[in-house]
Amino acid sequence: PVLVIDFGAQYAQLIARRVREAQIYSEVVPHSMSASEILAKDPAALILSGGPASVYADGAPALDPALLAAGVPVLGICYGFQAMAQALGGSVGQTGQREYGSTQAVTSQGGILLDGIPARQQVWMSHGDAVAAAPAGCTVLASSAGAPVAAFEDAERRLFGVQWHPEVQHSEYGQQVLKNFLYRGAGLSATWTAENVIADQVARIREQVGADRVICGLSGGVDSSVAAALVHRAVGEQLTCVFVDHGLLRSGEKEQVERDFVAATGVDLITVDAAERFLSALAGVTDPETKRKIIGREFIRVFEDAAREVVARAGAHGEVVKFLVQGTLYPDVVESGGGDGAANIKSHHNVGGLPDDLQFELVEPLRELFKDEVRQVGLQLGVPEAIVWRQPFPGPGLGIRIIGEVTKERLDVLRAADAIVRQELTAAGLDREIWQCPVVLLADVRSVGVQGDGRTYGHPIVLRPVSSEDAMTADWSRLPYDLLATISNRITNEVADVNRVVLDVTSKPPGTIEWE
Ligand code: XMP
Repeated sequence: PVLVIDFGAQYAQLIARRVREAQIYSEVVPHSMSASEILAKDPAALILSGGPASVYADGAPALDPALLAAGVPVLGICYGFQAMAQALGGSVGQTGQREYGSTQAVTSQGGILLDGIPARQQVWMSHGDAVAAAPAGCTVLASSAGAPVAAFEDAERRLFGVQWHPEVQHSEYGQQVLKNFLYRGAGLSATWTAENVIADQVARIREQVGADRVICGLSGGVDSSVAAALVHRAVGEQLTCVFVDHGLLRSGEKEQVERDFVAATGVDLITVDAAERFLSALAGVTDPETKRKIIGREFIRVFEDAAREVVARAGAHGEVVKFLVQGTLYPDVVESGGGDGAANIKSHHNVGGLPDDLQFELVEPLRELFKDEVRQVGLQLGVPEAIVWRQPFPGPGLGIRIIGEVTKERLDVLRAADAIVRQELTAAGLDREIWQCPVVLLADVRSVGVQGDGRTYGHPIVLRPVSSEDAMTADWSRLPYDLLATISNRITNEVADVNRVVLDVTSKPPGTIEWE
């Protein structure tokens, strides 16, 4: 892999994504990992990310010079560029001029890194210190107002660096810079394609499960559907899918799974009606993490029952189902605190929400992928477009969209409001444009309204439309006012107990996409 060493920037994940967009596999590792551990992963190239610190600050993350001497191609970005310059004997100084935001970089020599890029380009900068003198052996390629040395390279040692952030969209030729580094500087080729991911995963799944039986929790969403299709491709009839109706679904969801997915793939499916079970486990619970843990646990208990049914049905007395497939994605792992050094923001039901006494061994073929990559894999596997392009819907379902206790009555209210929002967004042709639009019921909040001639004292519904590339960050979608008006009118007229509709205008960060 190409390893992105995270020096504490919010950009490290983004760099990995951009490398994968160039069809080369990439992962993020923390800067606290030792040079020998990093090199033991046999990296094809290293990218040193930006970071918040100055290289002179106390406790500034250090760059072990061993990483630059290992013969592995290296690209330093922003802080990583300065740390590299310093380690190679160049000088980094406080220029007294902070550069932040969009600025112009001027190329003096293109070299390998800036080959084919116009002499003047808009780039995204964020730095106080700057490289004042390039290390011996390095050719200066570009400069900007605040950075006399804004890019350099040593083609012989395959060491490259840029002061700006090529991974952000505001850097005009950013992707070109990364590709120049990857393809030409490091001599890598574009092999991370959907076909290769499938071939690789099919082999890994076969090796993991052998001739054993496997079950897969199928929600009808993209992730679990693609995971199921992959496992089906690998082990065929050893797989049984289990669809759990936990009572926290949106309207029409169960029908869609049966109609679209099973018809297209022919997988064996068991449907379990577990609404009572989930609702009684959730009775009286208001804390978001507790809800998530309960839902994660109940899912597993239902899968255990289903596994026994699979065995009984097959007349395979005494056998047990050892494997459970889950559609866990890379961002789920990172956000549940599973990434190296990452904090637990919330326990995704299929990662941090799993019970300790889990009887199954997990099969998670999408664990290294971002959503857009999962979609490509799904298309390649022949998963129907109606599923591949479905907006994300969380496993804990409407349970984490009712702020307060989850009850059947509240679920009915939320389901009705959600159906209206989905209908109107589809009618407006916005399904692909927005990433997803959680609809949230503030069940413990009431406000006064007037309807007809009477006073009402009802609940607010929150609309949370967001745009995003991978759910790691998001912005609120600027929906047309007329559409918002239609949605608001319909909800307040058609859904009993709701007398107010409000719009969430918070990006992520600081908000998360879901409210719980
Ligand atoms: P947040 O709220 O963390 O959500 O910004 C990021 C993305 O993940 C989805 N999400 C989940 N998906 N199980 C899932 O399968 C979960 O427990 C879960 N929690 C959040 C959320 O809808 C968004 O797309």
